[in-house]
Amino acid sequence: MSLIDSYGRRINYLRLSVTDRCNLRCRYCMPAKGVQLLPQDGILSFEDLLRISEQAVLAGIRKIRVTGGEPLVRKGILPFLSKLSRLPDLKELVLTTNGTYLGGMAEGLREAGVQRLNISLDSLKPETYARITRGGRLSDALSGIEAAEKAGFPPHKINVVLMRGVNDNEIMDFVELTRERAYNVRFIEYMPTGHSGNWRVLSIPGSEVLERIAQRHLIEKVEPTEHSGPASNFRVRGASGTLGIISAVTGHFCDGCNRLRVTASGVARGCLFSGEGVDLRPALASGTDALLRQEIRNIVQAKPAGHEMRGGRAFPPVSFHMSAIGG
Ligand code: 5AD
Ligand code: SF4
Repeated sequence: MSLIDSYGRRINYLRLSVTDRCNLRCRYCMPAKGVQLLPQDGILSFEDLLRISEQAVLAGIRKIRVTGGEPLVRKGILPFLSKLSRLPDLKELVLTTNGTYLGGMAEGLREAGVQRLNISLDSLKPETYARITRGGRLSDALSGIEAAEKAGFPPHKINVVLMRGVNDNEIMDFVELTRERAYNVRFIEYMPTGHSGNWRVLSIPGSEVLERIAQRHLIEKVEPTEHSGPASNFRVRGASGTLGIISAVTGHFCDGCNRLRVTASGVARGCLFSGEGVDLRPALASGTDALLRQEIRNIVQAKPAGHEMRGGRAFPPVSFHMSAIGG
C-alpha cells in the first residue's frame, strides 16, 4: 500500500507528536508566559497513538519520527516506543529531542528500538543556551548527547535554529564541532509561528549562512541520501561530520515533501502552514480501524501543493506554537 497525494508525492513519513509539554521554553518555539497547554485528557493515550501509527503504516508510512514538545517528558514513553518499533513494515523509528533527558534514557531508547536521534542544540555557550531555552542548562544537553553516543546511536543530527544577533556568532564553533565529531549539524532558518513578530529580523537565510562558512572554509557538497530530508549537506574538507542547511523559510522544498503530521491531540495535518487538519478522535472513538485509515488517506489527499511562505513572502496563514505540532 502506498500513500500518493493529489500532486503525485509519495507520503511515507509521519511526524508524531506525543505531547505538547516541554521542560524548556525555547524562544522560537513557545511564548514566555501563558503557554496554552492541552488539558491532560486532550492528549491522546499511547494506545490511540499506536492505533494511528499502525493504520498509517498499513496505509503506506515507512518512517515515524516521534516529537513533542519534548517526547521524553511523557511518562511511559519507552514501552510505547518499543511497541512502535515492532510495527511490521515500519522501516525507521527516529526521535527528536532537546537531549536534556538522554543522560538517563539513552540506553532505554536504544533498547526500545529507536534508530537515530535529532537533538536540538542552539548554542555551545552556557549563557546563550540558557537565554534561548529560557533557563535550560547546556551541560544537561551535552551530557545527554554523550550518553546517547555511548549507548550506540549513530552520529546524531544536531539542530541549530539560527537567530541573528543571538547565536549566529557561533556558526564557526558549530563548524569546528563537525571537524571532531561525525555529527550532521543542521542550521535551520528561524520560521515565524504566529507569536514571533520580529522573525524577519532574526531569521537568517540559509544562503547567507553558507556564504559566511565558505568565506572561511573549503566546503564540499555532500550528495543527498535518504536521510538528508530537506537539508542540503556540505562538509568542510577533512571533517568527520557534515553541515546541513535547512531553508525552512526561503527554500522551495514543498515539491518533495513526503510528510504527514499528527499532533498530540490527534489532529492530522498535511502541511505545517496550512489550516487543514482532520481530527482523528471521532474515528478513534468509532473503534473502526478502516475508518481511521480512510481519514489518513483523506488528509493526504487534501495536502496542499505548498505553503504561502514559500520564498519568505507572506506571514504564516495559521498561528501556532511549534511545541504543539512538533516541528
Ligand atoms: N523555526 C525553526 N525551527 C524550529 N523548531 C522549532 N521551532 C522552530 C522555529 N520557529 C525546530 C527545532 C527542533 C525541531 C523540532 O523544530 O530546532 O529541533
Ligand atoms: Fe522544548 Fe523543543 Fe520547543 Fe525547545 S524547541 S521549547 S526544547 S519543544
